[in-house]
Amino acid sequence: MGMKNHEIVPLALIENIAKLRRGGVFKVVQSLLKKKLIAHINKQVDGYSLTYSGYDVLAIHTFIKRGLIKQIGNMLGTGKESDIYLCKGPNDEDFVLKLARLGRTSFRAVKTKRDYLKGRSKHNWLYLSRLSAIKEYTFMESLYKTQIPTPQPISHNRHAILMSLIQGYPLINVSSIKHPGKVLNDCVNLSIKLVELGLVHCDFNQFNLLVTDDEDVFVIDFPQMVSVDHFNGEELYEKDIVCLNEFFANRFGVFCENIPKLKDLKVLRHVDAEIKASGYLKENLKDYEIEELDQVIESAKREDDDEEMDSGSGEEPAEELKEEEEKEKEKGVEETKELNIINSESLEEKIPHEDQEDSENSSDESGSQDEDLNANPQITDQNKTKTKTKAEKTPENSSDLKQKISNKLKKNRQKREKVRTNRNKVKGQMSLNF
Ligand SMILES: Nc1ncnc2c1ncn2[C@@H]1O[C@H](COP(=O)(O)OP(=O)(O)OP(=O)(O)O)[C@@H](O)[C@H]1O
Ligand SMILES: [Mg+2]
Repeated sequence: MGMKNHEIVPLALIENIAKLRRGGVFKVVQSLLKKKLIAHINKQVDGYSLTYSGYDVLAIHTFIKRGLIKQIGNMLGTGKESDIYLCKGPNDEDFVLKLARLGRTSFRAVKTKRDYLKGRSKHNWLYLSRLSAIKEYTFMESLYKTQIPTPQPISHNRHAILMSLIQGYPLINVSSIKHPGKVLNDCVNLSIKLVELGLVHCDFNQFNLLVTDDEDVFVIDFPQMVSVDHFNGEELYEKDIVCLNEFFANRFGVFCENIPKLKDLKVLRHVDAEIKASGYLKENLKDYEIEELDQVIESAKREDDDEEMDSGSGEEPAEELKEEEEKEKEKGVEETKELNIINSESLEEKIPHEDQEDSENSSDESGSQDEDLNANPQITDQNKTKTKTKAEKTPENSSDLKQKISNKLKKNRQKREKVRTNRNKVKGQMSLNF
């Protein structure tokens, strides 16, 4: 409570708010310090501030009080901006808890290099993490209502979001797909659908696109989303699509030609403006707060691009995948593979075989993709796009793309290695201590 107005809360204020005797407060503070739920800071002011673990406990406690969760399970993932946990609802439903962690990794650099927070004591990372979660939850709610395939938003508190679990795998962990053309097509059409809603995802990549066993695609991770009217909207949209296209070409051997330009797409709604006008989740965030959050996220992304060279976009197939691909090329095998997951635990998991008729059809890639194009009736005809397989590429396109990809891969290899090492370090350090 004290942190609403103070980044560092003096003991006297804690005593006042807690309405406990001095000795009582001291004992509680010592116990919280021991559990690392608060930290003692003794710089300009002597006092205490919540740690991320402390903030987590408060948010989780709120979800438990609301009767939404009864158990926290394993960590599902850790990103630059969040930690993701599996959890159980009261009736054993599988939920996902996303805890925003702004400032943890590269965001630190943003804070030191471009000090947005200077002189504004209440704008600390916990506060910005809360704004980020509010923004993500609000966008998720709107998109879910508009039938964009996202997780179902369940609840929000502080820096935490509770949502449904998508029974799928991030594309980055998928080594082969039975109908890669259809999946790429669905992804591109999904990004077009977002543009139709006035939005550019800005991180529309293999880390944030989940594919299910039935090869349905879901999109996650919205804090960095911007309006199509953003001064850089065109570039951000193009970067999303080009990088995703490269990933598909590289890993699954399909790419999408005729990617529509942002300016050629018809915007049907301005969800971003609607959300802003409604005051973000009845939290009545001020314009400057939203702007500040966007600035921090944006500049962190820019920094990541500089420092990590699109760790996501310049996807390089794992060695074993390359070998597998080579072998298949030699055999002249067409791309009608099942969905394989690159994950030691899930290597055995595969999508069920489709019936004979289906697999026969799938060997005729171009035919089946034409059918796929009509699979999503929500995409306006005008905005629809078309995917091509490697076999259909013109030699010119093919060599251009290959050159582009190989240059990018070369550049990214070392940087990605560095990012992975850093992430693993962070993962090793993070655990819920309560
Ligand atoms: N609702 C969900 N269902 C299933 N898996 C999920 C869900 N939400 C997140 N994940 C998993 O957690 C990972 C990280 O989630 P998310 O992208 O939202 O976090 P992030 O911190 O923004 O990550 P990054 O910064 O790496 O993009 C995802 O790649 C996905 O594997
Ligand atoms: Mg992500």
